[in-house]
Amino acid sequence: MNIILLGPPGAGKGTQAKMLQDMFNLAKLSTGDMLRAEVSEGTPLGKKVQDIMTRGELVPDDIIIAMIRERIKEDDCKNGFILDGFPRTVAQAEALDKMLAAEKASLDYVVELKVDDAALVKRITGRFSCGKCGAGYHETFSPPKQAGICDACGSSEFVRRKDDSEETVVNRLKAYHAQTAPLLPYYTQKGILLSVDGMLDISMVSKQLEAIIGKKQPAAASARK
Ligand code: AP5
Repeated sequence: MNIILLGPPGAGKGTQAKMLQDMFNLAKLSTGDMLRAEVSEGTPLGKKVQDIMTRGELVPDDIIIAMIRERIKEDDCKNGFILDGFPRTVAQAEALDKMLAAEKASLDYVVELKVDDAALVKRITGRFSCGKCGAGYHETFSPPKQAGICDACGSSEFVRRKDDSEETVVNRLKAYHAQTAPLLPYYTQKGILLSVDGMLDISMVSKQLEAIIGKKQPAAASARK
């Protein structure tokens, strides 16, 4: 089963993708995480993209498409994958269609997480994660059970993303509306776009997704047609 989670920055794509990954045994492919790994390792690709990301602009399509083309060939994608943050332009969506066709695979769901812009700034500026295991948190909406201690690994080292400042969020939202929102009519036309109310709390959003995706489970063998 192959799924795209679409939505603006801070909509909850990463949070929900992680939950779906655990629930349905799917690979979680986040282009943002892949790019951040390149930046933190100081690779030539990381050096090329770090300023673009800090400004909140989109990384060029050719870089992203090449990254995903390689990634979906890996073994953990055989049972299907959840795309978090990709595609983000119509050119990326068209490239994905071609990649999937070449693998005789297809998309089962494209799910939009609908969240008002006003709520996104609070979500993004309150976000932090464990510096050791990467578990994600929010100061208000999803704090660790014990303040200052990661629920997952017990570490007390937390980090924040460089692009999670209020100024950069404005640019990220502009990029979403100008370059990514056109994917909504793109997938509507294909008849595979569904929307969930991303304004609800994390567990309620997850329940909506589970209801949609769970129905497809008996046909999971269709992940690679
Ligand atoms: P990327 O890492 O993809 O960031 P993004 O799309 O801006 O999305 P976020 O990770 O900020 O938000 P999210 O929707 O995953 O929300 P989350 O679950 O964390 O991209 C970063 C940069 O990389 C881009 O700006 C670009 O430069 C580059 N890039 C990446 N992919 C690219 C591509 N394909 N093409 C070109 N460039 C690309 O939730 C946010 C917070 O809210 C968390 O703290 C969470 O706990 C909380 N939260 C989640 N859900 C809820 C809820 N329902 N209620 C309350 N709080 C919630």
